[in-house]
Amino acid sequence: MRDVASVAAMERHFDAAFRAEFADLLVWRRDVRRFRTDAVPEEVLDCLFRLADLASSVGNCQPTRFVRVDDARRRAEVRVNFENANRDALGAYRDEQAELYAKLKLAGLKEAPLHLAVFCDEGTGQGFGLGARTMPETRRYSAVCALHTFWLAARAYGLGVGWVSILDPAEIAATLNTPPAWSFVGYLCVGWPEEEHRTPELERLGWGTRTPHPVLRR
Ligand SMILES: Cc1cc2nc3c(=O)[nH]c(=O)nc-3n(C[C@H](O)[C@H](O)[C@H](O)COP(=O)(O)O)c2cc1C
Repeated sequence: MRDVASVAAMERHFDAAFRAEFADLLVWRRDVRRFRTDAVPEEVLDCLFRLADLASSVGNCQPTRFVRVDDARRRAEVRVNFENANRDALGAYRDEQAELYAKLKLAGLKEAPLHLAVFCDEGTGQGFGLGARTMPETRRYSAVCALHTFWLAARAYGLGVGWVSILDPAEIAATLNTPPAWSFVGYLCVGWPEEEHRTPELERLGWGTRTPHPVLRR
């Protein structure tokens, strides 16, 4: 891998061809729940972690903690956690919406070769609290920035990422035996996607379509 951090040019111009490719990366990024089971090469994974390190973080505090979940017993506990939370979530819907929800595949936990839990170290001393004094939640936002950078980088390598949030976070912390100061941000299934699409699965299956984010002026 090229050492991206050491390419310290004073100026770097991105041309129209790059912008078009970048737009395509965003258009073709998907939340993936259907994976092939073949492994992700270690050197690719290392590269994705190093690219995620380049994400912005409040005060440069780099609070993101990735936990790679390889242990079969822990993975099984996460699956049970998801199944329980998903059953509870189904109970909150009625009629046709409940019928549709029940048909959705909302995690690829069984097939994905790689499981990554993402945490935020709320107690990190790095950055000396800069920027987080009035808004400590910016540490968690920083972890989301790293997670999303990882997601885009994975897509650039042809890998799929599926974010699973239908989970009890306290149970996740217990399953993974993480320090009390770490808050759970999200659980990622990572692997080679079975299919590629330009539109979200939830849109294709009729759950709802994307809308532009409102931009207000004051
Ligand atoms: C914070 C967050 C949590 C999510 N949790 C889940 C989840 O538990 N299960 C799931 O199937 N998708 C989950 N997703 C994926 C979204 O449903 C998906 O991003 C959305 O439908 C748009 O699809 P796209 O990512 O393919 O554009 C989550 C996404 C985000 C950003």
